[in-house]
Amino acid sequence: MIKKEIAEMLIKQINLELHSGYIYMEFANYYEEKNLPGFAHWYMVQAKEELGHAMRIRTFLIDAGVKVTYSPIADTEKDFKDVKAPLISGLKHEQHITASINKIYEKALELKDHLSANFLQWFIEEQGEEETNAQNNIDKIELVGSSGSALYLLDKEMGRRED
Ligand code: FEO
Repeated sequence: MIKKEIAEMLIKQINLELHSGYIYMEFANYYEEKNLPGFAHWYMVQAKEELGHAMRIRTFLIDAGVKVTYSPIADTEKDFKDVKAPLISGLKHEQHITASINKIYEKALELKDHLSANFLQWFIEEQGEEETNAQNNIDKIELVGSSGSALYLLDKEMGRRED
């Protein structure tokens, strides 16, 4: 069964995933203000994905008979100096999440909690994608610049992200 220490770490990870969603919903608010509905949409989809991550951990724990409770979600950054700033924060945040997942994975291996280690492999792969997406968004905005018709077109592209 799941080791107690790992269960506690995973419950904290649920909070971090929900916090990620909170951060991205705040990005969406910012982009709405900036009349970039495509970016706002992209981050609302991302926020839903984060809820999915949280619920994936919740299900894993509950299926293993672990009692799950939630704790308060931390506040988020709200003032950004330009349209690129949230994207940079997003990448830093995903790197932080990757480090957290890796820490749980390494502890699971150390404690020979193979069930949890196996479960976490999906997240390790997912974090690779999350960091790539975050970096891609930065690359795109660096390519088109922070205003003008190219940004308008990029916003349209961001708006096509599927749920
Ligand atoms: Fe759930 Fe974006 O990591």
